[in-house]
Amino acid sequence: MPKYQPLNWYDAPLYYDIIFDEGTRDETNFLEDSLAAHGRTDGWHVLEPACGSGRLVAALASRGYTVAGCDISEHMLRYARGRIKRRKLRATLLNEPMQTFAQPDTFDLAHCLVSTFKYLLTEDDAVSHLRCVARSLKPGGIYVLGLHFTDYDDDRTNRERWVARRRGVHVVCNIQGWPADQRNRLERVRSRLIVTRSGEMHHYETNWQFRTYNLQQLRDLLAKVPALEHIATYGFDHRIDNPVPFDGRQLDVVLILRRRS
Ligand SMILES: C[S@@+](CC[C@H](N)C(=O)[O-])C[C@H]1O[C@@H](n2cnc3c(N)ncnc32)[C@H](O)[C@@H]1O
Repeated sequence: MPKYQPLNWYDAPLYYDIIFDEGTRDETNFLEDSLAAHGRTDGWHVLEPACGSGRLVAALASRGYTVAGCDISEHMLRYARGRIKRRKLRATLLNEPMQTFAQPDTFDLAHCLVSTFKYLLTEDDAVSHLRCVARSLKPGGIYVLGLHFTDYDDDRTNRERWVARRRGVHVVCNIQGWPADQRNRLERVRSRLIVTRSGEMHHYETNWQFRTYNLQQLRDLLAKVPALEHIATYGFDHRIDNPVPFDGRQLDVVLILRRRS
């Protein structure tokens, strides 16, 4: 059994970026489709709270959007800024937490995919974040929020595996999630990376916690932020022609929340 070195994987943005890049084009298309189908504004301003390595920032900026992002990882922000500069794009990237970042009445679209929202570990932080997003959107602007629901009756550990390569760096990522604690609404998650570069193999491990949501818990949260109206739900196939019911049976959901006028 190899020894995995502890590492906050956001301190090594390249490996995160290699793994998550595969979905970028579909997600970008879906964000544009969501804005066209559900937005009630006519501008091109986009906010990405917790923008990470900037893969979606760059993709949208290259399609002509004016993009702003915030994150609390200086490593991720530095990587994102480097990518924007290299590609001769423009974006505003700020080191600020997503539960306090707000820029009133500015954005047509905000988005937060891949369960990133679940890093907000308390109800207060989740409410504060949604209020900040609501304030930051123009009336009629939309927030596209993707997250994985928790089935508290499922006592199995969940595993996902990705394999990807970029310019001589090969990354295998194994993510494991343990059954959630329904009382404190926390689930333990671990990512293990096996990185091969320059003929050497490295093993890294990151452990973190996510706040958990089932259907009712998410409904209760949304009810605390009436400025945002839930208007549509999709799955992680990111197909605008394939809306799904919001009934808790589908565990991977992407909500479209629109700021009330
Ligand atoms: C899974 S990555 C998502 C990055 C990007 N949104 C994407 O889709 O590729 C999660 C990011 O959330 C950031 N993050 C975690 N908690 C945060 C918070 N409270 N405020 C801002 N960023 C946060 C991490 O630093 C990391 O860059």
